[in-house]
Amino acid sequence: MAGSTYGNIFQVTTWGESHGKGIGVVIDGCPAGLSLCEEDIQKYLDRRKPGQNKYTTKRNESDTVEILSGVFEGKTTGTPISLLVRNEDQRSKDYGNIASCYRPGHADYTFDVKYGFRDYRGGGRSSGRETIGRVAGGAVALKLLSELGITVSAYTKAIGPYEIPSSAYRFSEMEENVFCMPNLAYAEKASEFLNQCMENCDSAGGVIECQVKNLPAGIGEPVFHKLDACLAQAMFSIGAVKGFEIGDGFCAATSCGSENNDAFYTENGKIYKKTNHAGGILGGISDGNDIIFRTAFKPTPSIAKQQNTVTSSGENTVLSIHGRHDPIIVPRAIVVVETMTALTLIDLLLANMSSRLENITRFYDR
Ligand SMILES: Cc1cc2nc3c(=O)[nH]c(=O)nc-3n(C[C@H](O)[C@H](O)[C@H](O)COP(=O)(O)O)c2cc1C
Repeated sequence: MAGSTYGNIFQVTTWGESHGKGIGVVIDGCPAGLSLCEEDIQKYLDRRKPGQNKYTTKRNESDTVEILSGVFEGKTTGTPISLLVRNEDQRSKDYGNIASCYRPGHADYTFDVKYGFRDYRGGGRSSGRETIGRVAGGAVALKLLSELGITVSAYTKAIGPYEIPSSAYRFSEMEENVFCMPNLAYAEKASEFLNQCMENCDSAGGVIECQVKNLPAGIGEPVFHKLDACLAQAMFSIGAVKGFEIGDGFCAATSCGSENNDAFYTENGKIYKKTNHAGGILGGISDGNDIIFRTAFKPTPSIAKQQNTVTSSGENTVLSIHGRHDPIIVPRAIVVVETMTALTLIDLLLANMSSRLENITRFYDR
């Protein structure tokens, strides 16, 4: 099964299944000399961890990371960094019925069609638990970005029908609710809505918005590795993602050119834009403004409500799923969005270093 490696220069390969012995990532291409310890990675894994409140799966995992290689005396050595998280709570019996029938909204049917065989324990590679490797690898990328003064921050913009308009953002309130919504009143409405979903044995979806600050202009490789194309790929590689838009996104399709173009102006010899409808990217290259994009997540597919489906031997059946599942994926996916963004940015930042001959001659002192 190919497809588990992401990036060209800063490369991560994630491995492991939901109910296997462990899960992790190998990072190849991380520069030597970055100070790195387990706590640098653990703080991001803790944000993804299950069992944090009543809206997240009750699966009991500490998700403790171990650095197996690539770090010596607290610094990266330039060799592959291998990170391991052991699975502790693997109660496969919760998932017994998945072996014999296809869960609607899951990858059971497509994995069976493709491989003729699948690891049905909790979805195997298609499980949300696969994102542990991305978060661990992305934590290292975030640390590298912080060395360059670049920040990546994501938050919940919408849960179900409750979408916070950007004019109502109050970022100080994000810490005060379990959904990381930058507006407490919206978070309360979202909470009532989710309680109703849970009573109905149902689930909900939502939207995560992400902002990148301080990214220099010039990042992104035309034509197939444009920054926006790479971000879209990174986001769509996350399970349950169904939509992506950058800047004004789909709204740009309904505005006029005179409204949508961001006018340039100059001040003290520097070039700025008056607005940022483009979301900080022009022609697939960062323009020095904040990067802003949104990712839409579908409702959690595992629901206790009865659903029609088919067994792997082709008989009609009825299924209701009583495992341990999040009624909403969004809050735990915020850190996945941030880390996948970081992996994308660091790879393109490194690629950009060879875009001009003068950079290469300066580096080699010729
Ligand atoms: C962080 C994260 C956690 C997830 N947790 C669950 C879960 O508890 N229950 C579930 O049914 N799906 C969960 N999913 C989503 C499924 O893995 C995903 O919907 C499924 O594999 C089908 O893939 P698709 O939605 O991309 O088509 C999670 C996804 C992510 C990113």
